[in-house]
Amino acid sequence: MGDARTTGTAGTTALRVGVIGVGQRAEIAQHVGSTDTPARLVLAVDPTEAGRARAVRSFGRDVRVVASVGDGIGDELDAAIVTTPDDTHAAVAIPLLEAGVAVYLEKPMAITLEDCDRLLDTAARTGTPLYVGHNMRHMSVVRQMKALIDDGAIGEVKSIWCRHFVGNGGDFYFKDWHAERRHVNSLLLQKASHDLDVMHWLAGRSTKRVTALGALTVYGAVQDRGMHEGQVMPDWFSHDNWPPEAQTGLNPVIDVEDVSMMLMDLGDGVTASYEQCHFTPDYWRNYTVIGTRGRLENFGDTPGGVIRIWNRRHDWQLAGDVEVPIEGEGAGHEQADVRTMAEFLRHVATGAPTEISLIAARDAVAAGALAADSLRDGGRPRDVPPLPADLIARLDARSQSSSSRTTPVPRS
Ligand SMILES: NC(=O)c1ccc[n+]([C@@H]2O[C@H](COP(=O)([O-])OP(=O)(O)OC[C@H]3O[C@@H](n4cnc5c(N)ncnc54)[C@H](O)[C@@H]3O)[C@@H](O)[C@H]2O)c1
Repeated sequence: MGDARTTGTAGTTALRVGVIGVGQRAEIAQHVGSTDTPARLVLAVDPTEAGRARAVRSFGRDVRVVASVGDGIGDELDAAIVTTPDDTHAAVAIPLLEAGVAVYLEKPMAITLEDCDRLLDTAARTGTPLYVGHNMRHMSVVRQMKALIDDGAIGEVKSIWCRHFVGNGGDFYFKDWHAERRHVNSLLLQKASHDLDVMHWLAGRSTKRVTALGALTVYGAVQDRGMHEGQVMPDWFSHDNWPPEAQTGLNPVIDVEDVSMMLMDLGDGVTASYEQCHFTPDYWRNYTVIGTRGRLENFGDTPGGVIRIWNRRHDWQLAGDVEVPIEGEGAGHEQADVRTMAEFLRHVATGAPTEISLIAARDAVAAGALAADSLRDGGRPRDVPPLPADLIARLDARSQSSSSRTTPVPRS
């Protein structure tokens, strides 16, 4: 490590962190200084003038703001948060890993399996920490469902069904790069990778075979198109943008689907389904998990909502046999973002194991990318190619050796 390391108030060495890509999601870099690991944001990188101006507004003048990652990045940073568009993830993260800079890479890991495998190979070879921002594993509703399942509340999990109502879809995904296959591949990958990872986590296994159907049914017909130069999503977001056919300023190119449905075979008779619609009036996710001794379902996915469990035989009963309030504070996923950032920084500093798994992040991309292939091929099923055994072994060895590190050791 270079000489520019900063010292925290308690005299502890603070990790020097950069953020690469200063769009709307770069806000997670605000959490860097507020976790239990001493760390400080020192650099922000964005190729656009608007992005650099946002960086100055968001992070203040103490953070150096530049247009590109320089050659000496390994001397300047211990860790980087990569919040660039999905198709750039591998190209941005791999040189950082090669330079020894630990990477928090936003989900999805990449938009192709080839890029995922290159990322995994680089992480295994260099030993530099790589972490994928699957923050939903730190959302209270998900953690509570996982704990209930692990405690045997519904027996052995046999099937998981997730319906995702993306009520803000027009504003979130159809007014910028998210609407284009070349940047995201599919919204089954870009948006669903969260839920695919959650379903794999809840089931304790991942997708082996997938099939899907879907279409661009509403937004493709909207004629009002335009670029939003210099803006990010919160600048154009409004609940007043309703109904969907009345949307304005949609991205000039739209070639992703706005409705999609996929079926997954997770092996040994365990199955899952995921349905995503981008023009519903309401926004939330509803999971149903069916086991051999009952089923659970969430109503709402933030505090104020509940998880209900049915574990006795009877006819229709909305209330469930057990009701568990969803914990946490606030309506969005900020709390999960703080926990996720804390886990990443702790991992970089101490090698502590993480709830988030690199192989699972690849599994989520595999399911989403192959579902998109199936959807665009009349629903013909696709099989997920397994990761090479030697790569799994190298990744396992890497996580075991890093979890044996106990003292805060920023990379040197
Ligand atoms: N985990 C979550 O809940 C969550 C939520 C939102 C977004 N995301 C992810 O965060 C990432 C960013 O999404 P966003 O909504 O902030 O996009 P955005 O368009 O608002 O911002 C992207 C920024 O990256 C910059 N950029 C583009 N190419 C770059 C490069 N090569 N190097 C450096 N900067 C570059 C752009 O100029 C822009 O400022 C995506 O991968 C998205 O999937 C995750």
